[in-house]
Amino acid sequence: MMEEQQMSYGLLVRPRGLDETNSPYDWYKKMRKNSPVSFDPERNCWDIFCYEDVQMVLQNYKQFSSKRNGSVSTLLDLDPPTHRRYRNIVSQAFTPRAIQELAPRIQALTHELLASLQGKSKIDIVADIAYPLPVIVISEMLGVPSQHRDIFKKWSNIFVSGTRTLSPNVMNKLFAKQGKAILDLQTYFQQIIAKRRFDPKNDIVSTLITAEVDGEKLSIEELLSFCFLLLVAGIETTTNLITNTMLTLFGHPDILKQLYRDNSLIPAAIEEALRYRSPVHSMNRFVTEDMNLKGMELKKGQEVMAWIGSANRDENVFDNPDVFDINRSPNNYLSFGTGVHFCLGSQLAKLEAKICITEMLKALPDMKLDTTKKLSMIPSAFVYGFKELPVSVGL
Ligand code: HEM
Repeated sequence: MMEEQQMSYGLLVRPRGLDETNSPYDWYKKMRKNSPVSFDPERNCWDIFCYEDVQMVLQNYKQFSSKRNGSVSTLLDLDPPTHRRYRNIVSQAFTPRAIQELAPRIQALTHELLASLQGKSKIDIVADIAYPLPVIVISEMLGVPSQHRDIFKKWSNIFVSGTRTLSPNVMNKLFAKQGKAILDLQTYFQQIIAKRRFDPKNDIVSTLITAEVDGEKLSIEELLSFCFLLLVAGIETTTNLITNTMLTLFGHPDILKQLYRDNSLIPAAIEEALRYRSPVHSMNRFVTEDMNLKGMELKKGQEVMAWIGSANRDENVFDNPDVFDINRSPNNYLSFGTGVHFCLGSQLAKLEAKICITEMLKALPDMKLDTTKKLSMIPSAFVYGFKELPVSVGL
């Protein structure tokens, strides 16, 4: 399952439009208007920009399959009916009740992180809070020591990073780097799994070891791919949700003030930040049969990138899509996907963001974005976030 390291171009290579500016939204708008279904020969991939098409591609697994050849195969890469059998195994760890039970622990962890910042006048929201919190939470859920979080960060950065250059040299280096990270991660989790086989605990790794699909226990490759997915899917994305929400609030000081006064508005702000600056901007699929979409001929086997970041700003679905409006209703963003692969961790991510931002506003009374530093984005074709978010705090 995980031995061959080969990734599709769509997820690995950033399209030209994304590279022109730090903000992809002008590019999305232009593409929605002029070329909503467009083929990029450089990446050998279709790009889809309008809400209705993105939604259709993500939901229609018969014509747009998640199966890819030879890549790191996880739940994300399976189609029904196999997909459902595997998803059921982990879904019990993510029921609304199971997630709500984590709230006191998430709160305690947030307090600890904030307490460690006492006395500082400048902090980096990414490194100090938004990254460590989800790492510790998912580590505890999986049952791995959270003090190893620096290695997790290194791995997750490698997995989401993309390139703009198509030179074989650069591509090979990136493949090699990702291959090495996967091997390291496998070795790491093999040890954890070996320990849990003899000494099961109340954690996801122990659940996975005893789980059965069609009467059979999971193979070591399947166990490893679950660990890989949960680690990668649950960290970078949640970090970016917290960071992107805070960045958006700094850009809307009146709303930030309102939130300082009334914490109960925080979940609405997070909902709108999910739409306005989605942590995940694209997901890929593969065409299963020749078809026509908006007059374009898609061929069997071709790759398709569904641009969630663009769908979330589609003027045909959202009024004033470029306005950050915490009272927006309805707000049917596609940031957690849609259909059978709908994000398993959406409730967890929102709970972490809510607790984290609420506690930050309580503990840090006068946060201001440090505008002297230019923010740099994570160089990725599918994750949207920032490497750091430096702020001064009025302590
Ligand atoms: C799937 C986004 C947090 C676990 C997905 C998908 C998206 C997404 C767009 C659908 C992929 C597709 O259609 O191919 C996000 C965002 C998050 C977040 C924006 C944070 C703001 C999390 C967390 C976890 C998680 C915290 C777990 C700890 C998963 C899993 C899947 C998934 C297991 C695969 C589900 C399946 O294939 O059935 N996520 N995610 N995610 N996410 Fe998340």
